[in-house]
Amino acid sequence: MKKVFIVANWKSNKDESEAKDWLDGFKIQNLELINKEIIICPPFTLLSQVASEVISRKLKVKVGAQNISPFDGGAYTGEINGKQIKEFVDYVIIGHSERRQNFSETDETLFRKVDQALKYDLTPIFCVQGKETKVPPNVAIVAYEPIDAIGTGQSDTAENAEEVASFFKKNYNVQYTLYGGSITSKNVKEFTQMPNIDGVLIGGASLDVKEFYAIIQNA
Ligand code: PGA
Repeated sequence: MKKVFIVANWKSNKDESEAKDWLDGFKIQNLELINKEIIICPPFTLLSQVASEVISRKLKVKVGAQNISPFDGGAYTGEINGKQIKEFVDYVIIGHSERRQNFSETDETLFRKVDQALKYDLTPIFCVQGKETKVPPNVAIVAYEPIDAIGTGQSDTAENAEEVASFFKKNYNVQYTLYGGSITSKNVKEFTQMPNIDGVLIGGASLDVKEFYAIIQNA
């Protein structure tokens, strides 16, 4: 049975009480998770809370960050570095198109972020927008997220995503490829049943715990 990653990217959403409500909803669910790696990526402000609730509620999920500083600790006002997030997470999303577009993150910056993640033993989930996106060395998980599919309700076709996933496995030393972009409980299986797609990265549909639960069940 192949391993399937199901990653919730909450983006810049939820405050403490909303996160608690989501976790309350998650706790009561009796999920069958044998081959599934569930990763919740809250904003930085909720990492501590979600990480400790995951432990106290004995949830079979991992926590990830949505970003990491390209620098180590020091005089970098406003940045959160790898050593700091390592206290709470195992994974970190790097190179999301929203960061490339809105925060002008360049390939050089993203390569440095990957270096920082690896230095602190964090697993990068490196987002690529298409075959032309450069992948830094030693990235094990790539998430293919075509820009037109993000938040639009118009996912890529599973066949095209499969083709891109196999391209990254062939051309880079990538172990797992995920697909992201308008995934819901209705279309998730089309993607996860593809031989080279090892999971999904979910934005909007991950905010509602019931829908996220349905995605996990159907994946
Ligand atoms: P979406 O976002 O599921 O809302 O399309 C996916 C992502 O940006 O990771």
